[in-house]
Amino acid sequence: MKVAVLGSGGREHALVWKLSQSPRIKDLFCVPGNPGIAQLAKCVPLSLDDHQSLILWAKKEEISLTVVGPEDPLSNGIVDSFQAAGLKIYGPNQKAAQLESSKTFAKQIMQLHGVPTAKSASFTELGSALRYVEENGAPIVIKADGLAAGKGVTVASSIREAEVALRASLEKNRFGEAGSTVLIEEFLDGEEMTLLSFVSGPDYLTMVPSQDHKPVFDGDLGPNTGGMGAYSPVPHLEKWLPEIEETIIDPMVKGLQQEGIDFQGILYTGLMITKDGPKVVEFNVRFGDPEAQVILPRLQNDLLEILEASTAGGLSSIKLTWKQEACVCVIAASGGYPGEYKTGFPISGLKSGANDMVFHAGTKIVGTNLVTNGGRVLNVSSLGESLTQARTRAYERLQNIHFEKMHYRTDIASKAI
Ligand code: AMP
Ligand code: GLY
Repeated sequence: MKVAVLGSGGREHALVWKLSQSPRIKDLFCVPGNPGIAQLAKCVPLSLDDHQSLILWAKKEEISLTVVGPEDPLSNGIVDSFQAAGLKIYGPNQKAAQLESSKTFAKQIMQLHGVPTAKSASFTELGSALRYVEENGAPIVIKADGLAAGKGVTVASSIREAEVALRASLEKNRFGEAGSTVLIEEFLDGEEMTLLSFVSGPDYLTMVPSQDHKPVFDGDLGPNTGGMGAYSPVPHLEKWLPEIEETIIDPMVKGLQQEGIDFQGILYTGLMITKDGPKVVEFNVRFGDPEAQVILPRLQNDLLEILEASTAGGLSSIKLTWKQEACVCVIAASGGYPGEYKTGFPISGLKSGANDMVFHAGTKIVGTNLVTNGGRVLNVSSLGESLTQARTRAYERLQNIHFEKMHYRTDIASKAI
């Protein structure tokens, strides 16, 4: 088979790495890919916005299955375009992708089907949004309705901070169209966990849980990023899994069916485990980044078989099996991220060992040098017999890696250890 992955970050490197182990794949491609991915797949420099060129290319190469990594192409209807052209593609269609591309839409589905989540209201107008914040007080959460690369959420500890976030979104257009509607949400206190599920219409398989670390600094301080590290399993929160499946995943999958939404792809459930039990913080419609970098190394099944079974409606015949080993991923980021940062710094010390993978997130080749090319630069994922061992290995691996102004959190997985 010829298989293509769309995307260019650490998650896509992990997807390509996992698919490269499938015995049935003859040729693996990635559009556009990155220098790390290029060691495992042929990278094709096409734009993910240009559906017609992608379709022409996939037809010419006779790609049997295309796998979509990031949310933007899904929300732009890449799945609908490929299917209309008679091509097989893994991921939700544009209608289903609204679960991620509109937080208001996701809230409506949750409310209709009794899925526990934070109380919220949507606004397009600054005056009424400010009044709502005054009435409800702080802490309170302000969210851009649309896609904002994980940076559209402000957890405001004061009314003043909430006002600044509202003005940035509604008055100064900080997130463009994505922030022209904001959701103001009740603050949920507790610990976060991510649960990914393979969903194919009425069938679903939940994966092992993981935990992301969104704030940029140790101790969960500083602004939110796309994710600074992750680990799996999450032993101290796993007792909640049966309740999460029963009160959240099951009603969501059934609810989507009832709403006439044919969901085929990954349902990413971001949870807060509160004192009143698990509640949904957000849904996404693709693998998490960096959650994929700790889940895929633990998956024992051939990923291709799961994806094929999903697109053919045969997901219920699959049983997922997992390595007992734990996995910890630490992100090496550019100093300054998620604010302004410089790129183009040479990277040294890259080499994967037996127990770790170094996934590329923001790198490029200039001349013969590998240099930094993004906020999140590298993802070091290590396996170990315990979380402690996996974490020790990841941090040892990082000691050898260097680029100017490199920043990473030193407390990934601490909550579980
Ligand atoms: P989201 O993009 O919706 O996942 O939000 C990004 C991050 O903001 C989450 O991972 C949480 O850490 C935090 N967050 C979002 N919504 C809430 C909430 N209602 N209460 C507390 N923290 C939240
Ligand atoms: N790690 C958060 C996300 O993928 O949205």
